[in-house]
Amino acid sequence: MFGLQQQMSLCTITKVLALLLLVASADAHGYGHEYGDDDGSDTLVDFYTNDCPAARSIVQLTLKAAIQNDKGLAAALLRLHFHDCFVRGCDASVLLDSTPSNVAEKDSLANKNSIRGFETIDAIKSAVEAVCPGVVSCADILALAARDSVIEIGGPAWEVSSGRRDGLVSSSFESLVNLPPPFADLTTLVNMFAAKGLTEKEMVILSGSHTIGITHCGVIQNRLYNSTGPGGVDPTLDAAYAAKLKVQCPFGTGAGNVIPMDPKNGGAKFDSNYFSNVLANKGIFTSDAALITSSVSRAFVQVEASGPKKPFFDDFAAAMVKMSNIDVIRAPAGEVRRNCRVSN
Ligand code: HEM
Repeated sequence: MFGLQQQMSLCTITKVLALLLLVASADAHGYGHEYGDDDGSDTLVDFYTNDCPAARSIVQLTLKAAIQNDKGLAAALLRLHFHDCFVRGCDASVLLDSTPSNVAEKDSLANKNSIRGFETIDAIKSAVEAVCPGVVSCADILALAARDSVIEIGGPAWEVSSGRRDGLVSSSFESLVNLPPPFADLTTLVNMFAAKGLTEKEMVILSGSHTIGITHCGVIQNRLYNSTGPGGVDPTLDAAYAAKLKVQCPFGTGAGNVIPMDPKNGGAKFDSNYFSNVLANKGIFTSDAALITSSVSRAFVQVEASGPKKPFFDDFAAAMVKMSNIDVIRAPAGEVRRNCRVSN
């Protein structure tokens, strides 16, 4: 999370960027675009070529500045996009704040005190709005930010089509029903991804995202202290790794404690380590360990573990393109929010 000082410097950087880009692109397009009046006729990849040619660079530059302050943001933004796409499609419903009459996705048990990166999305949105108001949806910003985040920490690039519109609804209940829990077994995982049009192989590949980022100790307490093996350890977890995790996450550890999900490099670099970890019984969640509980999914894990980049990077890029297009809303449905946290 950002401290006040970091937020202020990020704010200054984004304002400067926005101004620079405003000057650079002022002649390239007309302003005064009404919120949500796009007819959706542009081609998908080049959706903003006419209306906001600077959009993609603004996202990339604002994000770069944010990640320079805090490398962990890359993981946060990748996960935010996943949690958005799995609930009502990639429509930025995860960004909406709760209201007195509605508990939003971000406040559900599956997300609260866990998903993060909202301030960075706000900063990107402000920078984009300063240059071309009312054109670029929060859902597109999330998709672009996830892709650019992965690139920033050494991962693969993929093409992000644009033209997603922002949804009007966000429900905490829907998060609980649609997001896979860390204690899920293989059948549950396969079914939950299939419900989103993703194959078992794509589920395995996308789980490779756990090569970056952190988890809260609370999530793995059951595996370390309350399971069926000696000392309450889950017998499917490597014993030496479990002992190390117990030191990092003592019994009853409060919600504040976090640890990297990749024990090899601290979760700061995008690589295929996740798959070799899983094969060595060092997958951190039950859902990670589940990937080697059938010969079919185990074979997928083995293929992805076979090199530092190939075939994982190409496979991950292709699976992300598919995930980024789950149940996308197109004009005239939905809207382009002015502020990603509230409907217009
Ligand atoms: C297969 C089912 C999945 C389950 C059960 C799962 C569960 C989790 C859990 C419990 C955490 C730790 C949260 C915390 O302690 O705050 C986490 C972190 C993370 N997940 Fe997943 N996840 C899954 C798939 C995915 C997918 C498909 C992606 C991306 C495409 C992803 C990206 C991430 C990232 C990047 C983090 C680190 C977040 C951070 O550092 O803030 N996960 N996941």
